[in-house]
Amino acid sequence: MTSIGVLAFLFCCICLLDAYADVICMNSSRSQMTDEQRLYKKLMYNYDRNTRPVYNASHSVHVNISISLTQIFDLDEKNQVLTTNIWLDQGWVDEKLRWNPDDYNNLTVLRIPCTNIWLPDIVLYNSAEDYTEGYMEALAMVSYEGQVFWPPIVKFRSTCEIDITYYPFDDQLCKMKFGSWAYDGSQVDVFNTTKGVDLTNFVLNGEWELLSVKSIRHNIRYPCCSEMFPDVTFWIHIKRRTLYYTYNVIIPCVMLSVLTMVGFWIRPESGEKVSLGLTVLLAFSVFMLLIAENMPATSNFVPLIGIYLTTVMSLTSFSVIMAVVTSNINVRGFKEVDLPRWFRKLVIFCAKLNCMKLTYVRDTDCRAKDDEHAKEKYYQMHTTFSNDSGCALIDYENNSTKQKCEMNSKITGHVREVELGSDSWVTREILSRLQLLVDKEEEKERSDLLCKRWMEAAEVIDRCLFWVFIFGTLLSTIILLMVIPTVRPFEHHGPQFAT
Ligand SMILES: *[C@@H]1O[C@H](CO)[C@@H](O)[C@H](O)[C@H]1NC(C)=O
Repeated sequence: MTSIGVLAFLFCCICLLDAYADVICMNSSRSQMTDEQRLYKKLMYNYDRNTRPVYNASHSVHVNISISLTQIFDLDEKNQVLTTNIWLDQGWVDEKLRWNPDDYNNLTVLRIPCTNIWLPDIVLYNSAEDYTEGYMEALAMVSYEGQVFWPPIVKFRSTCEIDITYYPFDDQLCKMKFGSWAYDGSQVDVFNTTKGVDLTNFVLNGEWELLSVKSIRHNIRYPCCSEMFPDVTFWIHIKRRTLYYTYNVIIPCVMLSVLTMVGFWIRPESGEKVSLGLTVLLAFSVFMLLIAENMPATSNFVPLIGIYLTTVMSLTSFSVIMAVVTSNINVRGFKEVDLPRWFRKLVIFCAKLNCMKLTYVRDTDCRAKDDEHAKEKYYQMHTTFSNDSGCALIDYENNSTKQKCEMNSKITGHVREVELGSDSWVTREILSRLQLLVDKEEEKERSDLLCKRWMEAAEVIDRCLFWVFIFGTLLSTIILLMVIPTVRPFEHHGPQFAT
């Protein structure tokens, strides 16, 4: 009897101590453990999470990688970092996590904390993170055939070479390269799945439009090791939405250009031309700063908008210089010099181009014509004087025409008297005095004509420059903001996708 009692006691001790006694102590264990618990205990028995889950070491673990892109947080142009929110779906077969569902009331899938099973060390090769944080510790879904599915949510910060040539009409191709860090291809092999990239949960980004995401598998030998290391690279193609930049940068730039054009309508004698030009130049430099702030400090590419701003700024500087030049031309007449021959020709050419009528600047040599003109006028004056109708012509010295006319009629009256009843020396005296007056008047008229001539030249040159400026601005705007962004003559740095 005692020996049987001791045996029963020992038996019970074994039952309590041995967790795997459920085969023997079927009835007592069933009441205490759930199916999942039982399965979990069975699976975890003798499980080592540090070794690959293949019985034959010459077999490799196939890891299928796919991503669900949920959000593009930000593309930092300055630091060339793309921040994304991704569900990194990883699936592989764990040969040690297999069971017969019939033994566990048709339990086919078991969720196991990922920290307890072997995980492939899939990392983002081009990460900009400091690797202090691991993946989210999500549960892994294990099916009875050993299929493990583990989809942690990860916020990736990946490096992305940014090509800002067409900024703000640019599109960027950012890669995310995933692969096992330590295992080579013969131990852990990664594959991209045929289902591609899941975008059902994608949240639209205000700045970037997602064009496509593609995955390509590579098998690369690195300089460190002789083995091949496979990886799956996802290419995220995004395009910048241009509305913001159109409203905040391009339209103000175009408006500033229009302001510069308007500056050409200010009279050359007004100094406002220069100050308007300088104000516009200042506004442009503010825009330049604004754009430079967001750009990576690279000399590899110059953004299109930068080229546009520089062009428009150069045109504005040019207009300021030309305003100074025209204002100089405008006051040249006070120096009592005539237009140089070449300049006169240029002015006449410009006037013809603009269909402007020249009243002061003439084709022939001014000086010769002038002298002729003066002579002609003098004779005319003589004759008119003799004919006693000088009122219209002799209206120079006095301010009021009426006064002049009265005085002139008085003079003519006197002259008539003199002519009627006195000697010829009086007439001669009067005539010589008159000659003096006429000479003085002619001198004044001549200098007046010179002033007007230079003024007219300035006006013509200004008009000509206005057209040059309009042409330059329109051409640069159309080419830089419309043609180049659509045609895209420069090669993109991305990969050639083979279907
Ligand atoms: C292990 O796998 C290799 C390659 O498949 C095979 O040649 C070898 O026979 C396997 N070994 C055993 C013990 O099954």
